[in-house]
Amino acid sequence: MMPVIRLEDVSKVYPLPFGDVVALDHVTLDVEKGEFIAIMGPSGSGKSTLLNMIGCLDVPTSGNLFIAGRSVREMDDDELTDLRRDTIGFIFQTFNLIPLLTVRENVEYPLVLKERRRDTWGRSEELMAKVGLEESLAPHKPSELSGGQQQRVAIARALVNNPAILLCDEPTGNLDTKTGTVIMDLLTGVNHQGMTIIMVTHDPRIAEYASRTITIVDGKIA
Ligand SMILES: Nc1ncnc2c1ncn2[C@@H]1O[C@H](COP(=O)(O)OP(=O)(O)OP(=O)(O)O)[C@@H](O)[C@H]1O
Ligand SMILES: [Mg+2]
Repeated sequence: MMPVIRLEDVSKVYPLPFGDVVALDHVTLDVEKGEFIAIMGPSGSGKSTLLNMIGCLDVPTSGNLFIAGRSVREMDDDELTDLRRDTIGFIFQTFNLIPLLTVRENVEYPLVLKERRRDTWGRSEELMAKVGLEESLAPHKPSELSGGQQQRVAIARALVNNPAILLCDEPTGNLDTKTGTVIMDLLTGVNHQGMTIIMVTHDPRIAEYASRTITIVDGKIA
């Protein structure tokens, strides 16, 4: 059976006026369904670039990427949009919350895109509670929240559609140790229910929650 994620010789080159930046350099990687992988490596080594490729937010310069057995290169824009919406949850390093929407609307947003109706059955509230966000924060805008609260909104939003694949970029980067543990227990729980997780982290204690750690240096798997 094909792994849930397969990268074959994937490179990503950013052409810049002062020369090309090779962000990923011939990366080959198989991820099986239900794996929990930590990605570590120095700043600028290509970790976020790797997540962006797997999350189909950007396309490899060369090489092939397969998600759930399908070549991303062969999908059109509509198919990629459906894949991102229905199969992948993404917790961004910089949260990427929608500033004009409230906390609850941000959490609900992927569900509305998928089901084409509002969440009237409390899934958003359930996830807000699971990441430790008080209900009183629901009507607030992201700009009224602390960094750690915004990070938890981003985590709740990424989980709301119960994605098959969860990509997280420093999911506990803005959290205190106690809240970080709550989040890691939550991620471990959804992983045990079958969610495949790829998590970028600088923190070896956070990487310990994963079943496999991959180190990236200069765009290559070390
Ligand atoms: N959109 C872009 N345009 C040009 N260069 C980019 C772009 N995105 C990333 N890079 C470059 O690619 C390399 C890898 O960046 P990336 O963001 O993947 O690193 P990272 O490992 O996530 O670092 P950090 O730990 O600091 O988040 C860096 O040299 C970076 O400057
Ligand atoms: Mg990064």
